[in-house]
Amino acid sequence: MQRLKNKRAMITGAARGIGRTFAEAYVREGAQVALCDIDLERAEVSAKEIGEGAFAVQLDVTNQESIDQAVQSVVSRLGGLDILVNNAGVFDLAPLVEISRESYDRLFSINVSGTLFMMQAAAKQMISQGKGGRIINMASQAGRRGEPLVAVYCATKAAVISLTQSAALNLIEHGINVNAIAPGVVEGEHWDGVDALFARYENRPRGQKKKMVGEAVPYGRMGTAEDLVGMAVFLAGPESEYVVAQTYNVDGGNWMN
Ligand SMILES: NC(=O)c1ccc[n+]([C@@H]2O[C@H](COP(=O)([O-])OP(=O)(O)OC[C@H]3O[C@@H](n4cnc5c(N)ncnc54)[C@H](O)[C@@H]3O)[C@@H](O)[C@H]2O)c1
Repeated sequence: MQRLKNKRAMITGAARGIGRTFAEAYVREGAQVALCDIDLERAEVSAKEIGEGAFAVQLDVTNQESIDQAVQSVVSRLGGLDILVNNAGVFDLAPLVEISRESYDRLFSINVSGTLFMMQAAAKQMISQGKGGRIINMASQAGRRGEPLVAVYCATKAAVISLTQSAALNLIEHGINVNAIAPGVVEGEHWDGVDALFARYENRPRGQKKKMVGEAVPYGRMGTAEDLVGMAVFLAGPESEYVVAQTYNVDGGNWMN
């Protein structure tokens, strides 16, 4: 049985990585999915590879006009919106004394403001439809505790966990369930970039940090985007009706709460 049959979904940052994998899974489950990304070209390639049910939409989550236009274009194409996945996110690291205003502003505007104002735009649309909806935010194990070199990213993901709670408590009266997923370490281009930054700041050969974090996961390896799909489909589908304001760790046992 398809669990998202005829649902209309938007996934931000879906040109590649976890968002792309979620888009493919949602289409498999019967949804129509807008792959929204600042990299439209790559989102178009991904949508084409996924095939029927997937299409690309230009979106910069830091720009309100772009957010409004993206929601509007999804609604005019699909007739409404039932599911939003706030997945677009970026990483940076530096020792505290070297953190730049520019890096701070970039991470907060994509990871935090982007998440908040996408939730707002989607919620307005879902409220006007009167049939509830689902919002899923991508947090991280980084939002559960600080790390010596990762102050800003960790703070953005802690903010995502907090925003998920407040938005959920505010929106559940409209039948909109807001929850989040906190992955651990996930294979892909994102972590290749993270590894390169650790190599620079911790003076390691490339690939060493990635190997270390993978071996340290209780499950025994890094995660893959596919490892997160079960939770992403569950939180978007009918079985999570009574699940509100939660952030679920899907991390091979890295964090327990
Ligand atoms: N990969 C991991 O290990 C990991 C772990 C925990 C949490 N996460 C979170 O999961 C999410 C997805 O991670 P990923 O590994 O797939 O990352 P990724 O870097 O592979 O993909 C991120 C996507 O976001 C897009 N994007 C960047 N800025 C944007 C903007 N302003 N507007 C719209 N789109 C924008 C990028 O073009 C890219 O397609 C992120 O929020 C990330 O923080 C990832």
